[in-house]
Amino acid sequence: MKAELPPTPAERPERLAIARMSTNDIPEVTRIERASFATTWPADAFFNELSTNKLAHYFVGRLEGRIVAYGGIWVILEDSHITTVAVAPELRGRGLGEAMLVHLLDRAIERGAAWMTLEVRESNTAAQSLYRKYGFTTVTMRKGYYSDDNESALVMWAGNLKSALFRNRLDVLRARHERAS
Ligand SMILES: CC(C)(COP(=O)(O)OP(=O)(O)OC[C@H]1O[C@@H](n2cnc3c(N)ncnc32)[C@H](O)[C@@H]1OP(=O)(O)O)[C@@H](O)C(=O)NCCC(=O)NCCS
Repeated sequence: MKAELPPTPAERPERLAIARMSTNDIPEVTRIERASFATTWPADAFFNELSTNKLAHYFVGRLEGRIVAYGGIWVILEDSHITTVAVAPELRGRGLGEAMLVHLLDRAIERGAAWMTLEVRESNTAAQSLYRKYGFTTVTMRKGYYSDDNESALVMWAGNLKSALFRNRLDVLRARHERAS
């Protein structure tokens, strides 16, 4: 049997190209949103975030020009919050969500954030595991937070984003992730 040769650089899947979300991206983003969440943001929620919320920063990730991931943060002085992050269902498990999370952390730190919080469904173990990998811990639970089925939310938090320890951890994980993708 012939051994499988490692892909040459030209054959490797393209790396996620992350850029600021624009209002033109909203139709593609809402398609992923509908495939990803039980309760979804309507297109005008994204439009308002992009056009009126000065604290909001949204990004899309493209592969071969197609939007396959997106994510957003609010940064209010030292406080930052992940508002949403999602990857197209057929492309999950390939490191794209991680690439988007690293981007969100980098942008928050760049803007002076010292900590980051988010809410995640109690049953969403994939997302929780991604956040834990990057140093987030569960700080509290909001009972019945999600209105569609009354599921509780875990509130996760990563502190000391400005510390050398956090930055080193981020650098190590980023380098490992870039090597793997
Ligand atoms: C959560 C989500 C963004 C992760 O994106 P992804 O591209 O599939 O994840 P990645 O391939 O980058 O995986 C990165 C890490 O996430 C965790 N993870 C991803 N999928 C997982 C799964 N099915 N089970 C357990 N952990 C998982 C692992 O820690 C993984 O790191 P590892 O590869 O070292 O084990 C994606 O599953 C998604 O879009 N889900 C629907 C929307 C959503 O739930 N968003 C989060 C709202 S809080």
